[in-house]
Amino acid sequence: MSQDTASAGTAAGSSLTVRDNRTGTEYEIPITDGAIRASDLGKIKTEGDEPGVAVYDPGFTNTASCRSAVTYIDGDKGILEYRGYPIEQLAEKSNFLEVAYLLIHGELPTKNEYETWQHEITFHTFVHENVKDLMQAFRYDAHPMGMLLSGVGGLSTFYPEARNIFDTEARHLQIVRMIAKMPTLGAWAFRHAQGKPYIYPDNELGYAENFLAMLFKMSEPKFVADERLVKALEVLFILHADHEQNCSANAVRSVGSSQVDPYSAVSAGIAALYGPLHGGANEAVLRMLRRIGSKDKVPEFIEGVKEGKERLMGFGHRVYKNYDPRATIIKKACDDVFAVTGVNPLLEIAVELEKIALEDEYFVSRKLYPNVDFYSGLIYEALQFPPEMFTVLFAIPRTAGWLAQWLELVDDKDQKIARPKQIYTGDRTLDFTPREQRWA
Ligand SMILES: CC(C)(COP(=O)(O)OP(=O)(O)OC[C@H]1O[C@@H](n2cnc3c(N)ncnc32)[C@H](O)[C@@H]1OP(=O)(O)O)[C@@H](O)C(=O)NCCC(=O)NCCS
Repeated sequence: MSQDTASAGTAAGSSLTVRDNRTGTEYEIPITDGAIRASDLGKIKTEGDEPGVAVYDPGFTNTASCRSAVTYIDGDKGILEYRGYPIEQLAEKSNFLEVAYLLIHGELPTKNEYETWQHEITFHTFVHENVKDLMQAFRYDAHPMGMLLSGVGGLSTFYPEARNIFDTEARHLQIVRMIAKMPTLGAWAFRHAQGKPYIYPDNELGYAENFLAMLFKMSEPKFVADERLVKALEVLFILHADHEQNCSANAVRSVGSSQVDPYSAVSAGIAALYGPLHGGANEAVLRMLRRIGSKDKVPEFIEGVKEGKERLMGFGHRVYKNYDPRATIIKKACDDVFAVTGVNPLLEIAVELEKIALEDEYFVSRKLYPNVDFYSGLIYEALQFPPEMFTVLFAIPRTAGWLAQWLELVDDKDQKIARPKQIYTGDRTLDFTPREQRWA
């Protein structure tokens, strides 16, 4: 038996000894931060020129793609922190712009830094008039996410300097522009479907307030949103600002790894979020609640779920095996919103579903708890948003998280262009038969 060290200097107890039963060779593979390097496994070979052992991990369920200091999640304990700060404290005591600053810069801003940041973001909320033409060219019934993704992708053509991704000043400018313009594009996508004129930003208003004005302003000279709604929207924005390496963050990083400009990378994130498995669950929750129809039908519905007929939408999470901390905060925000808009009648059904599910052995044993989407759709509906807009409301704040992830990627010397391996399962070296012979 021979012994190979995949990497020198491995301390006892922080390595993995792997024995290749094909050859009898043992390998010592270092474990750092609870992970081994896939490239170390690649050194395990039968013959020198054979490909080494690879890791097969569809959906990256157990593969760390990066080292990151942006967002921490402990799914078993139900913990979510941005840059080390618990989400509960940020939702209660901060506002979205401050949280966006924290995500991007890694630290909370000083007074000066905050004021500069707020000024920069406010100053950049307008878009070039041609972007308006681009948005207006869509069909009357265009999905707002399709419009948003094209709008953001299109911005790269207005700012060619965005390609200089290693120029820190140019980078900062694109980050400010994108966070600033997202509500403008999102609101215009919303107005488009209604055939209403697009409303320009009002730079006297705060971030969420300005967004509400661009969504709902009609002929009044100044749109004044209810403070409780502004606060609720700020909270929802904070909760959705980042969630570490989810499908869309991974899309941003993967596309960004080709060193494309950040507008193109973020539009890939928007495309990923567009998919029903990522951004669409709150809409599915509303459909489910409507189908159940009344509180007394809940037990029958739960029985159907337990028999495997369907899933309880808004329950369960790949990472959280405990109450999703964002769901707790959203549930509280429901009260504030409903105090202004009136209670969404579906709330009663949702509360009953949660009550029964949390006591039921099926859900308890599988650690299925409400996730962020269980209550968010109810709020969005109460705020008069059609379901197609729900994902736009997610994309706007998530832009801060995507950009924080992108910045980290660009500066990470470990990163390379994303290029996974495959296990080839198709035919090999077939002889091509010309069409005349195949079709004869
Ligand atoms: C989020 C979700 C995709 C996570 O899936 P996952 O981590 O791959 O978990 P699995 O699909 O392996 O589920 C594990 C078990 O719990 C069950 N389960 C998971 N979510 C369930 C749900 N919402 N309702 C009923 N049963 C559920 C599965 O049937 C499975 O049971 P089994 O072990 O008897 O086969 C899943 O919980 C789900 O579909 N939830 C509803 C959709 C939703 O709310 N998505 C938004 C996420 S933010």
